[in-house]
Amino acid sequence: MEFKIISNTQSINQHNDTLLLNTAEAQVQVSVYSSTVIRVNITTQANKPDTSFAVIREPLPDLSYEETLQEIVINTTALQVRIQKDPLRVAFYTADGVLLSKDDDRFATAWQDAKVINHRSVQPDEKFIGLGEKVGNLNRRGSAYVNWNTDAADYQLLTDPLYKTFPFYIGIHSGLTYGLFLDNTHRSYFDFAASTDNQFMWIGADAGDLNYYFFGAQTVAEIIKDYTWLTGRMEMPPLWSLGYQQCRWSYMSADEVLEIAQGFRDRQIPADVIYCDIDYMQDFKIFTWNKETFARPKDFINQLKDINFKLVTIVDPGIKVEQGYQQYDEGVEKGYFATYPNGENYVGEVWPGRCHYPDFFREDVREWWGTSFNTLTEPGVDGFWNDMNEPSAWNQNIPPIVKFGDQFMPEVRNAYGMQMARATYEGTRKLLGNKRPFVLTRAAYSGMQRYSAVWTGDNAATDEHLLLGHRLVNSLGLTGMAFVGVDIGGFAGNPSPELMVRWNSLGTYTPMFRNHAMKEADMREPWRFGPENEAIIKKDIEQRYRLLPYLYSTFYEASQTGMPVSRTLAIDYTYDKSVYFEDYQNQFMFGDALLVAPVVSYAHTAKVYLPQGAWYRLSSDERYTGGNTYEVDAPLTDLPVFVKAGAIIPMQNIVQSTADAGDGVMQLHVWQGDKPTSFIYYEDDGNTYDYEHGAFYKRTISFDPANQEVTICAVEGSFVSKYNKITMVWHGFDNRIAIQEVDNVQDKIVIVYKIQ
Ligand code: GLC
Repeated sequence: MEFKIISNTQSINQHNDTLLLNTAEAQVQVSVYSSTVIRVNITTQANKPDTSFAVIREPLPDLSYEETLQEIVINTTALQVRIQKDPLRVAFYTADGVLLSKDDDRFATAWQDAKVINHRSVQPDEKFIGLGEKVGNLNRRGSAYVNWNTDAADYQLLTDPLYKTFPFYIGIHSGLTYGLFLDNTHRSYFDFAASTDNQFMWIGADAGDLNYYFFGAQTVAEIIKDYTWLTGRMEMPPLWSLGYQQCRWSYMSADEVLEIAQGFRDRQIPADVIYCDIDYMQDFKIFTWNKETFARPKDFINQLKDINFKLVTIVDPGIKVEQGYQQYDEGVEKGYFATYPNGENYVGEVWPGRCHYPDFFREDVREWWGTSFNTLTEPGVDGFWNDMNEPSAWNQNIPPIVKFGDQFMPEVRNAYGMQMARATYEGTRKLLGNKRPFVLTRAAYSGMQRYSAVWTGDNAATDEHLLLGHRLVNSLGLTGMAFVGVDIGGFAGNPSPELMVRWNSLGTYTPMFRNHAMKEADMREPWRFGPENEAIIKKDIEQRYRLLPYLYSTFYEASQTGMPVSRTLAIDYTYDKSVYFEDYQNQFMFGDALLVAPVVSYAHTAKVYLPQGAWYRLSSDERYTGGNTYEVDAPLTDLPVFVKAGAIIPMQNIVQSTADAGDGVMQLHVWQGDKPTSFIYYEDDGNTYDYEHGAFYKRTISFDPANQEVTICAVEGSFVSKYNKITMVWHGFDNRIAIQEVDNVQDKIVIVYKIQ
């Protein structure tokens, strides 16, 4: 095996925006994207085209650097990049010279044949968070991971890899933060000092460049903001997709779908979405409907629409090998499928049996895929679930000689699912006109947030999976994915009624709230667990709907800054050691105001850590002093949820779906606190892209305890709110303050709560 370590600098040049340093082994290309984002690309093939699935930004046009005998220094207002010349070593410092992260002096960047490995120094107190959908602890120090998108059916608590690749982590040490994104789609490796005697950590990939972006902003939130600036942010989701979603593999006929949907309405359990899993298709042929069981798709979708349900249908990439099937015939004729090196179409087996795999890396194939959705959009499908796109083939071992155009599978596998979801998004967005499509995908790569929501695949109906699942949600949030769900109740197996209730309570505080179960599982709808449990489940789903104004505004924040909806406490309380403890690492903020403590089904009390500040229990308004742990009651009827002092949370009355107009009253809840706070309230029609042309309604709501008032700024945007009244609900204030109601006028509104 050939082994080499990057050695001395032989030449230094500048090409437009990029500094080029040549060594005997490689070219090191450095460019500045912003004062806090630097790209370093160490390549052995300097002249090949520079492409990325993830990055949507360009470097700044001018680059200046200083050179001394020993080193090159690039200064930005926030960072200092110091490149030692002999041997070549890269280090990042804050502008005032404090070390953030650097190459390991001995091994730095090295190659073993085509495999590239970057060894990096670690600090004694250094923690690592991120990498998206990865099992294990919040703090990833001492763990190692592989990125190789895999259909991880039956995954367990320590299974790696899973379905997605997000090669981005954040390092935390000495009161400092930094981030690193390795933009390489080959099988990649992240080892956070797992077996190195704590001497170094390493990242690497089977081949390709050591192409990384370094982030030097000084809060986790700012790093996420920069990472999503570089790789894009999510659009506003359709409001209905934030409602309750009911799924199953599968509701077997149009009649059954309608019966389940009606079941929600009869029982007055709010819901917005129902799914068709693979059995709606004819012989699992994508873009077809089963001729018997879903004979008249338009009719049944219209009936669903009449009771305010949206339909989401599944699509898999595998196109059944069958002459006379439109997508097969067209794909073969036009050469749209993955091939062997001799040009034969690759065949793998999935649900339909023998299948070909569209080459989603080609624009014409994406176009073709996108237009094929007309058989779904015409009858009225609104959401498109992309599954099996790691890609999966039975026995999970697609030969490495399979090609997508010029590229072999191992080079781009990790981006396949992303390109499928992109084709789905772009195609359905065109077909739906001005309506927002909802796209959900299982496989993903960095930048996925621009096109789709994700869920965490085939989990299991156990308490451990409930806890792990929410850690996955939070970790995905660190890597730009704000719109994330897990199969509530667990995909495989049957949850006990207690577990179902608990998981559903947590679903209320999960960005995407979808109940899903596998084929052999017992029926899983809210009314299958007895009347008492049904009542609790109903109440929790109602709570989700009450919170929609808050949740929608939080999604707006995600669309503007990349801030996730479900946030590990490591974002806001980065330097508080307790948030990384195993006992508390599952706790999270749901938006800016609510702290949620997931609890297993068999516990009726919970040990909760509340960070600095004051907190109120949401269900009782009981006040707690932060910086402490508490043993709190956690009956099945009351998941421990705490509100941050000073929080402003807009709520609404309970509706049966997001299409329901409601009573026109916004309930503006404020919890007493001693510092001024503010909240950006956002609303639009929830359905179209008109918000891009000014049809939104936005106002900042501020709470000022010193002056004892709440101010609602004048409205920005041309949309008219669905709330014509605002009711103020005070928590933790002098109980002589009465609830107040005001008209929701466009101008500034000042509400004084002083007791005279
Ligand atoms: C895969 C998906 C699962 C789906 C099933 C059938 O296992 O992860 O969600 O129900 O396929 O389509």
